[in-house]
Amino acid sequence: MAQGTLILICGLPGAGKTTLARRLALQRGAVRMCPDDWIEAMLADPTDVIERDRLRDPVENLQWELAKEWLRFGHIVILENGFWSEEERTQYACEAIAIGALIELFYTEAPDFDRLWSRVSSRNIEITGSPFVMSINEL
Ligand SMILES: Nc1ncnc2c1ncn2[C@@H]1O[C@H](COP(=O)(O)OP(=O)(O)OP(=O)(O)O)[C@@H](O)[C@H]1O
Ligand SMILES: [Mg+2]
Repeated sequence: MAQGTLILICGLPGAGKTTLARRLALQRGAVRMCPDDWIEAMLADPTDVIERDRLRDPVENLQWELAKEWLRFGHIVILENGFWSEEERTQYACEAIAIGALIELFYTEAPDFDRLWSRVSSRNIEITGSPFVMSINEL
């Protein structure tokens, strides 16, 4: 059976993770899983930030279990959870290696804070009304 590949996309909010993940998914024929997409689809009330935050861990865990199934069958899987902590990145990588997969880590960044905010502002317009609109203070 083909060897699976786990692609982890790491980066600050608005740094370009989803943009890169979508491009890689098309280029590599990969399965892309983004927690925000699922959380948004599950929210009865898009303004409910407590429920949004509560859903993050269970959704990430579900996606990780699914990702490991795809990896075992030799697929390329892209996860774009941010992966801000080295401990988290290491844990995902170790589990993927244990099931025989290869790892690729991508880091997205903007040149400076102003340009990061400019990207987040543009993204805010693209996702108007979504629970993931982010203010400059949150960023
Ligand atoms: N390399 C880039 N140069 C300039 N703009 C970019 C670049 N990558 C992404 N953008 C733009 O920046 C905005 C944020 O990009 P994207 O949604 O991919 O970020 P993200 O890291 O997934 O954000 P989040 O963490 O909030 O999910 C979008 O409007 C996107 O078009
Ligand atoms: Mg994103």
